[in-house]
Amino acid sequence: MSSDTDAGRAVHGPDEPLTIGEMSRRTGVAPSALHFYETLGLIASTRTAGNQRRYARHMLRRVSLITVAKRLGIPLSDVQDAFADVPLAETPSHADWQRASRRWKRELEKRREGIERLERELTGCIGCGCLSMKACGLLNPDDALGSQGAGPQRLRDEDA
Ligand code: FES
Repeated sequence: MSSDTDAGRAVHGPDEPLTIGEMSRRTGVAPSALHFYETLGLIASTRTAGNQRRYARHMLRRVSLITVAKRLGIPLSDVQDAFADVPLAETPSHADWQRASRRWKRELEKRREGIERLERELTGCIGCGCLSMKACGLLNPDDALGSQGAGPQRLRDEDA
């Protein structure tokens, strides 16, 4: 069985669970972030008799997936969705990773399209300066305020 040294490192075999310090060192994720992931149900730990956290080794793979998602700017709620069908007692499989990565790729494509659309609209604004609620797509995307009637809808809202 594992035992903690005074340096906070556990001395144990390759199949034994990891301390939070080991998880942090091996994943590059701060212990506070690991705690946060645990509160979100993205990872789980057990407790020793001394109330110290221990992580099953397959949690390393879950944290790796979370780290990749964060690099891509994927919200943790989407990671929760990706893990919804993967019980905490199981390692995310190759198929789980493929499903998540395909979904996140579609999300990145949508974002890229949105940025390209904004870039086109901004290009139209360069040198214009009208800042018209009616004409400027950046101020009033898809004429969203048009359905609320004529005139300056945002100013009316502020008067209320
Ligand atoms: S500022 Fe005139 S179209 Fe955007």
